[in-house]
Amino acid sequence: MNVILLGPPGAGKGTQAQFIMERFHIPQISTGDMLRKEVASGSELGLKAGEIMKSGALVPDELIIDIVKHRLSESDCQEGFLLDGFPRTLKQAQAMSEAGILINHVVELVVPDEDIVNRLSGRRVHEGSGRVYHVLHNPPKQEGLDDITGESLIQRNDDLPDTIRQRLAVYAEQTRPVAQYYMALDTAGVRGGVIPPKYTRINGTDSPATVSDQLFKALS
Ligand code: AP5
Repeated sequence: MNVILLGPPGAGKGTQAQFIMERFHIPQISTGDMLRKEVASGSELGLKAGEIMKSGALVPDELIIDIVKHRLSESDCQEGFLLDGFPRTLKQAQAMSEAGILINHVVELVVPDEDIVNRLSGRRVHEGSGRVYHVLHNPPKQEGLDDITGESLIQRNDDLPDTIRQRLAVYAEQTRPVAQYYMALDTAGVRGGVIPPKYTRINGTDSPATVSDQLFKALS
């Protein structure tokens, strides 16, 4: 099963990806996590991407498309995958379909902008795994520490109020058309023998457990 999880920054994509991975045994491909690893390693790509990410803009399509195509060709993706944070532009979505990568489900998590700033300013992350917490809504068992490894949690450097607003503006301008593109494909139905991905919108403001129940129903 090949799935795309869409939604604005802070919609809960990373949170729900953990549940989907466990339930359906498919890997999460998070382009944000992949880029943050490059930044941490100090690679050439990381140096280019780091400043862009800190500003809340998107890294150029040509940098990210090849990375994702390469990752999807790896053996653990052959039985399915969950894309989290990709595609984020129409060019990225078109590159996938041109490469013959079929998608079965596109799920959009819908959360109003006013909830996002609160969510992201309370977010804490375990850098090594990408596990996500929230100081109020989803706290770790021990304050400031990852539940599994006991390592320290961090606050992302793009989770500052001005940068969050910039990321929301970028989402509205560049990623909303991707959601509309997949919605239109589903509405148009089978074309040339190709079954389009099923498009589902889910209210992301419910509790994480309720959101994952809805997601599991959509994917079953
Ligand atoms: P990326 O890492 O993908 O960030 P994002 O899309 O902005 O999404 P977030 O990770 O911020 O949020 P999320 O939806 O995963 O929410 P989460 O589950 O953490 O991208 C970062 C940057 O990398 C981009 O800005 C760009 O520069 C670059 N980039 C990445 N991909 C790219 C691409 N394809 N092309 C170009 N550039 C790219 O939840 C948020 C918080 O809310 C957490 O604290 C969580 O505990 C809490 N929460 C979750 N669910 C709930 C709930 N139901 N109720 C209450 N709280 C909840």
